[in-house]
Amino acid sequence: MTTDTPPTPEPPNAALAGPVVLVAGARPNFMKVGPLQAELDRRQIHNVLVHTGQHYDPAMSDVFFEELGIRRPDHHLEVGSGSHAAQTARIMEAFEPVVIAEQPSWVVVPGDVNSTLAASLVAAKLGVRVAHLEAGLRSRDWAMPEEVNRVVTDRVSDLLLAPSFDAVDNLAAEGYPATAVALVGNIMADTLLANLERARARPILVENALTPGGYGLITLHRPSNVDDPDILAALLSVLGEIAERLPLIWPVHPRVNSALARIDVPAGITRIEPVSYLDSIALQADARVVLTDSGGVQEETTVLGVPCVTLRTTTERPITISHGTNQLVGTDPHEIRLAVHRALSGEIAGTRPDLWDGETARRCVDAMLTYTAAGTAHH
Ligand code: UD1
Repeated sequence: MTTDTPPTPEPPNAALAGPVVLVAGARPNFMKVGPLQAELDRRQIHNVLVHTGQHYDPAMSDVFFEELGIRRPDHHLEVGSGSHAAQTARIMEAFEPVVIAEQPSWVVVPGDVNSTLAASLVAAKLGVRVAHLEAGLRSRDWAMPEEVNRVVTDRVSDLLLAPSFDAVDNLAAEGYPATAVALVGNIMADTLLANLERARARPILVENALTPGGYGLITLHRPSNVDDPDILAALLSVLGEIAERLPLIWPVHPRVNSALARIDVPAGITRIEPVSYLDSIALQADARVVLTDSGGVQEETTVLGVPCVTLRTTTERPITISHGTNQLVGTDPHEIRLAVHRALSGEIAGTRPDLWDGETARRCVDAMLTYTAAGTAHH
């Protein structure tokens, strides 16, 4: 009994005066700019990719470009690591002449990393429209550098591309006008759904003697969990208990290496090098449970329907708890054990949130064109 649905009206196709500049800098940015670059290309909208160089190891950067077919960056700022102030300042200094030379119609900044903040400030001060992809998320934990980045980036952005209704609610509560906000869904779902089959074909499970449903996955990189060796050792001790029942595999973020030099990793936890995008999805998809402090992994496990235990006290992605498969437990050993028990006993089920459907890049470009045509300004 399906009836013909009327075609979605095409947004006004305002000619964009200059290119769309996409900014990526750190690992969680790359899978967000990929679908946007592809959609802009599909519509023959001139776009330029800037890599800030915040992440630079091949395993933290190049492999994502190769696997996801992202074009080589048009500009590479090569800023590297540093303190927050130094890294942010270096990105700003290097990005400013790029914006002046490119004269973009839009600068699109994804996520909440230092590259996001730095690029949005530069564009806003040069009077160039900024679109924040993944706007409106709030952990309300001001000690997280990402929370500062989110709030400031939203404030200097013209168009707020929100992944979920809770993000839209946050922006409304902060006084952003509805004309500045577009609910577009989760762009990571675009990448995940398009690549799931390829990920499942990867040999990463076999290479690590893992069987589907027979292991757990750890990812850890939040400064609050990994910078202090004592805190990390306490966390690993409870994970070690879990590993006595369920083998755990842990791709180790480079940030963790200095703390790890001073502590022992319990038996049952297998450390491996950072994994590529496809391998990360492959490991998540077949895990019995994922233990993480990442934001993106909370979302990917929700899309995959895999139980996730988040080793943090706050999350900026509450929809992964209310709708998805996530449990927020902090670092209390008892809470971690309970959450893992619930996950292993099959108590955790979830649904995929609205608009996490693989069509987010299309909605982002629609929103940018509509905004351009309307000539809106909310500042
Ligand atoms: C950054 C983001 C964080 C994101 C994470 C994903 C900020 C404030 N933080 O954290 O939100 O979740 O990326 O990975 O932007 N390092 C390397 N090789 C690299 C990159 C980093 O060895 O290619 C090491 C360096 O020692 C560096 C440290 O990791 O000092 C931290 O890197 P940085 O980019 O400052 O922050 P992340 O912890 O990666």
